[in-house]
Amino acid sequence: MPAADPKFLKYVDEHEDAFIARLKAAVEIPSVSGNLEYAKDVERMADWLVGQLTDLGVKAEKRGIGKHTLDGKEVDLPPVVIGSIGNDPAKKTVLVYGHYDVQPALKEDGWDYEPFTLTPDPKTGRLYGRGSTDDKGPVMGWLNVLEAHKDLGLEMPVNLKMIFEGMEESGSVNLDKFIESEKDKFFAGLDCMCISDNYWLDTKTPCLTYGLRGVNYYEIKVSGPDRDLHSGVFGGTIHEPMTDLILLMSKLVSPTGEILIPGVKELIAPVTQDEQEKFEKIHFQMSDIQGAVGGDQTLTDDTIKTLMGRMRNPSLSLHGIEGAFSAPGSKTVIPCSVKGKFSIRTTPNLGVENTTELVLKYINDEFKKLGSKNRCEVSLGHGGEPWVTDPNHYNFRAAHKATVAVYGQEPDYTREGGSIPVTLDFANILGLNILLLPVGRGDDGAHSTNEKIDKSNYINGTKLLGSYLYELAAEKKD
Ligand code: BES
Ligand code: ZN
Repeated sequence: MPAADPKFLKYVDEHEDAFIARLKAAVEIPSVSGNLEYAKDVERMADWLVGQLTDLGVKAEKRGIGKHTLDGKEVDLPPVVIGSIGNDPAKKTVLVYGHYDVQPALKEDGWDYEPFTLTPDPKTGRLYGRGSTDDKGPVMGWLNVLEAHKDLGLEMPVNLKMIFEGMEESGSVNLDKFIESEKDKFFAGLDCMCISDNYWLDTKTPCLTYGLRGVNYYEIKVSGPDRDLHSGVFGGTIHEPMTDLILLMSKLVSPTGEILIPGVKELIAPVTQDEQEKFEKIHFQMSDIQGAVGGDQTLTDDTIKTLMGRMRNPSLSLHGIEGAFSAPGSKTVIPCSVKGKFSIRTTPNLGVENTTELVLKYINDEFKKLGSKNRCEVSLGHGGEPWVTDPNHYNFRAAHKATVAVYGQEPDYTREGGSIPVTLDFANILGLNILLLPVGRGDDGAHSTNEKIDKSNYINGTKLLGSYLYELAAEKKD
């Protein structure tokens, strides 16, 4: 017997088209937080959300959280959108979080569809568009739940508070300060929290997530001459910044994924028996990762090693070189200054501070060994701590029951390789148990070309989020 009101579930089935139209309207606003050109659209997206929430009976508002520098200009940070509905002391109060900003996307990047037009594929039931799964689909899921209750005249089973930010894809700048400053005001009286901003591990097994890796983003700047030079004239006569940089970058990680920075490997916590058992229970096949990657480049054929590589061990990825010649053709330039970018996904014991200390020392030492006359500066762009929680909490129990009710199967318990750094701020500042309750699948392609959400995930995801609230209301606090 499902705990969710059957009228709610029926409403969701009967309003699929309207819910897809809502997602379409959201995807159409290109709310890219990392690019000044889209600043107006990010603001427009916040206004649109406040409008939607207000129409759905939520007390909602935008709140400014200060300024930052974007593309060299000091501008306002995207506002946070907060809302609350219900204030019944007899009910639990749950906070939900999502983000309304998205990663950049251009058709030329290799999309088969216009990235900011939600495009359904009737054959597969997929809905393509930037933000469809990350994170507009789940955010719309919460709005759909509210709409169903309002239209049916149904009381919400819990008091709901919402916070939707517009800066998640660019490091959630100042959100920690906002949480701190509103701790005893907007955030007062909360029982627990739910974040829907990650994905199932595969394409068929729902999951509940109890951990995230942290992410530290670094830049190595190597500079020398005060202008770009001709390689015919100066090649063979000077220390070239790009040569130094490539050498340094080649010393960070091995082709088999081993982090080469001394001290990092040593900090990885040993695998406990309990952890080993948790990983063994996860439904996962190598074909799932191959499908999501679109090729067979896995480091190993072992599923447990693959899962641990993604969820409980750190990884280092090289991302790019700013200032390098990268256009088509063959320009014979020696760039005078280049910036290499890489990041480390971190796990417990690898905090922002101790990891950064190891990184800076190693790169500076390696640079000295080159005997180069160039200058080298290494810096941390942004850092976010890893987060792991105990999934034996009524918050997780409620989501477990909701998953069984909606999908007819038990969820996997996963940790994520990706990062939502603000999770730890919510957990630490507000002292809350946080559940990560994903809506989309492992092959949705967040951040990639042809990002999608399956219609069934979006619709069942709406039922899941709503059912979770009912189960939460019924759960005994422990
Ligand atoms: N939704 C993702 C987080 C995520 C990614 C969860 C992959 C599960 C798997 C989120 O929008 C995101 O991409 N976060 C950034 C954070 C960074 C900019 C600080 C990330 O992980 O790169
Ligand atoms: Zn996201």
